[in-house]
Amino acid sequence: MSNFEFYTPTHVYFGRDTQRQVGDLVRAQGCKKVLVHFGGQSARRSGLLDQIEASLDAAGVAHVQLGGVVPNPHLSLVYQGIDLCKKEGVDFILAVGGGSVIDSAKAIGYGLCMDGDVWALYDHTRKAEGCTPIGVVLTIAASGSEMSNSSVITKEEGGIKRGYNDEICRPKFAIMNPELTMTLPDYQTACGCTDILMHTMERYFVNIETMEITDSISEALMQTVIYNARILMKEPDNYSARAEIMWAGSLSHNGLTGCGTGGGDWACHQLEHELGGVYNVTHGAGLAAIWGSWARYVYEVNPERFAQFATNVFDIPCGTDYKETALAGIEAMENFFRSVKMPTSLHELGLDLTDQQIHDLAFKCSFEDTRTIGVFKQLNMRDMEKIYLMAR
Ligand code: NZQ
Ligand code: ZN
Repeated sequence: MSNFEFYTPTHVYFGRDTQRQVGDLVRAQGCKKVLVHFGGQSARRSGLLDQIEASLDAAGVAHVQLGGVVPNPHLSLVYQGIDLCKKEGVDFILAVGGGSVIDSAKAIGYGLCMDGDVWALYDHTRKAEGCTPIGVVLTIAASGSEMSNSSVITKEEGGIKRGYNDEICRPKFAIMNPELTMTLPDYQTACGCTDILMHTMERYFVNIETMEITDSISEALMQTVIYNARILMKEPDNYSARAEIMWAGSLSHNGLTGCGTGGGDWACHQLEHELGGVYNVTHGAGLAAIWGSWARYVYEVNPERFAQFATNVFDIPCGTDYKETALAGIEAMENFFRSVKMPTSLHELGLDLTDQQIHDLAFKCSFEDTRTIGVFKQLNMRDMEKIYLMAR
């Protein structure tokens, strides 16, 4: 197994009504002024923003607002946020929303601590020098950004979606009330569950000796998400199921499921980021559309690993033929995706792509044929193209 570091500095406040503590929690950070950052409509419509502002007022914390974050969050709003925070003297950012809002907050936080263009971080030509502290009120269980070291931003010009990872952006606190996720459309709930599964699977499908304890945590996490996602499709107001999924979302991406697995594969995420950047698809749905094709393309490198997944996650008996069990496991995961109305092909995702469009995606994903992705099997541009074609 590989050596690892594990760092989760985020203070979690989990459960009913926890958002009411937000004013006191922000005040305890000792800041002068807070940016309340949020998305399109949902937080305003549900009354959550009013509650938060009332809590900040009651705690005597000065605040300004910036809404309008879209899924696959835009660089242009990050620039606006940086300008606003500089003008207003903001020294703490409160993200009220999901991964898009949190990632936008992280990007603003980075931008406030550097001279020059924050995109240089996402372009991987510079490293962050600091990040204004961030707090989170989470409204969708999905990205795990509330505890992660990652931020993913889309530069509108050219449709370029890129991530930047740095420990200094991990939120100071995350307020997680599962009730806040009950207003989600079923589609977003299912996309979130898919993303959570993928954050664990990306770390699980590696080609090195792993730790039994990490494997067991990951397998239990996947079973829990699958079980509770099915409940939520029938009972969206089921608090226990919402809570299981919400906590699984954080544990799947705070590093826990990567202990001893060497960092993970992440090829599906890279392939999806191109779809998100160019076609603005919802992240979880894009992952579901790609995963089965990726899995069938790579499983023969280590069918035993896929067979372990099939047996321990889906209770598929493992005979001597690991390949057969592996394929049954891949099919079982795709059947799960279908059961929560997730796409298992690009067509079902709403994309009917030409050969040229698929080639362009692979060209972009390989940084113009200059990089490979994945570790379970290293994939070059031609491999990427084949996987997109299989997923068509
Ligand atoms: O904008 P509003 O009106 O709030 O609507 C949002 C949005 O349309 C809606 N929503 C959120 N909470 C809601 C709600 N609707 C009703 N009730 C609620 N309680 O849901 C939609 C999706 O929101 P978004 O924040 O985009 O979802 P998610 O958390 O899935 O974040 C996706 C983004 O995170 C990135 C993805 O690439 C994508 O850009 N990721 C970030 C990661 C990280 N930072 O660690 C890791 C992930 O792999 C992922 O790449
Ligand atoms: Zn993801």
